[in-house]
Amino acid sequence: MTRAQLAVLLLAVVSSCLPGSALAETTAEYFKAKCVSCHTIGGGRLVGPDLKGVTKRQDRAWLARFIVDPQTVLASGDAYALKLREEARGVVMTPIPGLTMDQAKELLDLIEAESALEKSQFAGLQISDRPFTADDVRHGRELFLGHRRLAGGGPPCVSCHSVNGIGVLAGGALGPELNNVFERLNGRRGLMTWLSAPATATMGAVYAPHPLEAEEEILPLTAYFADLAQEPIESTQAATLIFVLLGLAGTAGVLMIFDAVWSGRFRGVRSELVDKSARRSEG
Ligand code: HEC
Ligand code: HEC
Repeated sequence: MTRAQLAVLLLAVVSSCLPGSALAETTAEYFKAKCVSCHTIGGGRLVGPDLKGVTKRQDRAWLARFIVDPQTVLASGDAYALKLREEARGVVMTPIPGLTMDQAKELLDLIEAESALEKSQFAGLQISDRPFTADDVRHGRELFLGHRRLAGGGPPCVSCHSVNGIGVLAGGALGPELNNVFERLNGRRGLMTWLSAPATATMGAVYAPHPLEAEEEILPLTAYFADLAQEPIESTQAATLIFVLLGLAGTAGVLMIFDAVWSGRFRGVRSELVDKSARRSEG
């Protein structure tokens, strides 16, 4: 038995000794950490479907299999899964590393129990839905650029992301460019929920220990991304043009260097020839 298997066994033994409520709590915590960035229970669709009453729409064995390994189910051409993907506008559920069949069943128990409540704790994010102001946009931009510090101590977005209008080459390239993220992550509510608990590898690792603050950070950042989404496409084209020009300038520079070296050598050869012929005509 490997050490990992032993750990799993120990965990299983320990967790089977825990009272039911403690187990339920860990499942809820797990759901909060891994699922709420894409799903609500009774709060409407985010990137993924609203999970309220999901066990009435599809049988539990199928759902457990899907939660553990969504990609295999999708790849099998399963009609229900393909319809889900279509409704999610092509976004697919990312497999969650280490998620077991037993955990999936516990998650389904949790979803069922929460679905029965009038209002689930997972009905969605509690952030005000007041209209965004120009102040929010400015504040969001400052947070993005790191001109204003994040209260939780996380790094500024610009260290890994770029967007239109901050200057070419200003943003980092580890993360994707975020011009269209407002649209991509389903608008205001979707983006805010996503940012409140990013579930992807890098974002999760960076911001789980330094969560973003709701009203003071997630709201203005979302306002900023909403504002970017309205910007005309020209700025991207301008940026591309600058890149092309930089490229051309670089090429021109290299050509000039080659030319200098080459013509120098050529001149050398030529002057030798000239000297020779001059000597010949002299002699
Ligand atoms: C990155 C976003 C994302 C995360 C994180 C995510 N899901 Fe999903 N989920 C989806 C999408 C999108 C679908 C729709 C099917 C598809 O396109 O893959 C889906 C479908 C489902 C379904 C089937 C829904 C139905 O209507 O039949 C269940 C159940 C589900 N997810 C549970 C979970 C659970 C439990 C977690 C956490 C362990 C989780 N998901 C994490 C995006 C996500
Ligand atoms: C340490 C680098 C890093 C920092 C800092 C960072 N991000 Fe990210 N971000 C990433 C990476 C990498 C991804 C791609 C998914 C992943 O691996 O997490 C990503 C993905 C995203 C996405 C999803 C994009 C999509 O199209 O699905 C959003 C939204 C996002 N980041 C917003 C932010 C915001 C807002 C901040 C600042 C508060 C920020 N990020 C700071 C690296 C970073």
